[in-house]
Amino acid sequence: MTTSHDQVKFAYWVPNVSGGLVISKIEQRTGWDIDYNRRLAQIAEQAGFDYALSQIRFTAGYGAEFQHEPVAFSHALLAATTKLKVIAALLPGPWNPAVAAKQIATISQLTEGRVAVNIVSGWFRGEFTAIGEPWLDHDERYRRSEEFIRALRGIWTQDNFTFRGDFYRFSDYTLKPKPAYPLPEIFQGGSSRAARDMAARVSDWYFTNGNSVAEIKKQVDDIRAKARANNHSVKIGVNAFAIARDTEAEARAVLDEIIVKADPEAVNAFGHEVKNAGKASPEGQGNWAQSSFEDLVQYNDGFKTNLIGTPEQIAERIVALKEVGVDLVLLGFLHFQEEVEYFGRRVIPLVRALEAKAAVHAQAAE
Ligand SMILES: Cc1cc2nc3c(=O)[nH]c(=O)nc-3n(C[C@H](O)[C@H](O)[C@H](O)COP(=O)(O)O)c2cc1C
Repeated sequence: MTTSHDQVKFAYWVPNVSGGLVISKIEQRTGWDIDYNRRLAQIAEQAGFDYALSQIRFTAGYGAEFQHEPVAFSHALLAATTKLKVIAALLPGPWNPAVAAKQIATISQLTEGRVAVNIVSGWFRGEFTAIGEPWLDHDERYRRSEEFIRALRGIWTQDNFTFRGDFYRFSDYTLKPKPAYPLPEIFQGGSSRAARDMAARVSDWYFTNGNSVAEIKKQVDDIRAKARANNHSVKIGVNAFAIARDTEAEARAVLDEIIVKADPEAVNAFGHEVKNAGKASPEGQGNWAQSSFEDLVQYNDGFKTNLIGTPEQIAERIVALKEVGVDLVLLGFLHFQEEVEYFGRRVIPLVRALEAKAAVHAQAAE
């Protein structure tokens, strides 16, 4: 029997930012308002999704004109659900760890420990300039994020917390109340060398952009080897834009339409920003360093994971990701409410069946 522990987890991107998850003029029946999102969260927990991930954006150079703040928004979604865990994005710089630790501890207390955080290190210089935040070099951003994570964890787990970092200082600080159990999980986003090394030292979860199974395997092996050497364990989440339809032809036609109707000006503006961010890491392997125009139409390279086809094809590809060590699939959709429901009804049961079959084979082989 597979236990829930063995099952790949599912998350969806909270559309708390307008414009959906693709930079395209294709019709998207996705709202960014709270009523749409509350309903979506309820559909998602019914459908078997474990997590929802909210986004942080202060400004948008690429069409995402309206952006709700993720901590407040995540709390509203938690208040409307009973099982779903909601991951609130936090951006070191605008957030400092003392405020973040207290905000999240309170939400954790109010929601029986269902809140988590995603520490994003930032890629959008114009956004930092707009809000008067200093813009650090790529690897300095990660050094700050690592201190941020160490500070959060320290505040949440210790009394009389003392920390002397280059970015943050704490002296004999005791947070009361601390978060409820389980403690908020700490996710991070980013694929560069600095991002991976940070994951291998301090994060509970590493989130990466979409990619092929072979490329994801390289990242998983790299991070897990480094984490082992650090006596740390880290779980892996991969982004994907899912287009599940009754036939493969229908799903492919939707992808073609998204690309044909892409907004070239907005995609190129986004590409310009993120290519700078990707190249800025010293080894040049950051997110988006290899992305084509078509890839960039989905903000986080979600087409590359190829969860596009029939429910059966998608389930098999998810299990292939799991086999190389992926623990969670993060999903974006064109029409969120309808497609999250369809995914839960048609795809997740197939994944569970394949997982159960694999577990029986594994037991027989023992
Ligand atoms: C799953 C995921 C979610 C992310 N969410 C956000 C976000 O909400 N806001 C943001 O500004 N950046 C977000 N990022 C961007 C990362 O924090 C990071 O800045 C970016 O991936 C570039 O990192 P790299 O150069 O280390 O690869 C996200 C990245 C991933 C993979």
